[in-house]
Amino acid sequence: MVVDTEQHRPEQGETVAIRIHADTDKYNRVMPDTTTAPFFIARVAPGDQQCDAWADQTLLSALEAGGIAWPSSCRNGTCRTCIGHLTEGQVRYEIEWPGLSADEKVQGCVLPCVAFAASDLTLQPGSL
Ligand code: FES
Repeated sequence: MVVDTEQHRPEQGETVAIRIHADTDKYNRVMPDTTTAPFFIARVAPGDQQCDAWADQTLLSALEAGGIAWPSSCRNGTCRTCIGHLTEGQVRYEIEWPGLSADEKVQGCVLPCVAFAASDLTLQPGSL
């Protein structure tokens, strides 16, 4: 299922159209597509913390469920409080364009509150 909606981005002072690849549960809530692998391992560097990162769970939720403290605020990809840098692995997004520039995405910046693990991965706090 594809859901077309809008997302307000206060940093850019604009509202943009976004497309979410999702499904709905029995309460008609929009849920992420869960057709990918069930879970991966998310590691936080430096250090040796790691947790299970389920394919249908945001990376931020996975970190929190694993007892790993990670900064967050809006939890919808707009404030960038949770920004991190991916040093290994891949993530996917349910929203077409999370609050990252194309350059930041190429450099490995991720927003764990709206990113889903797509492989085992290693994440560092903060941007480059
Ligand atoms: S918590 Fe705001 S962008 Fe992730």
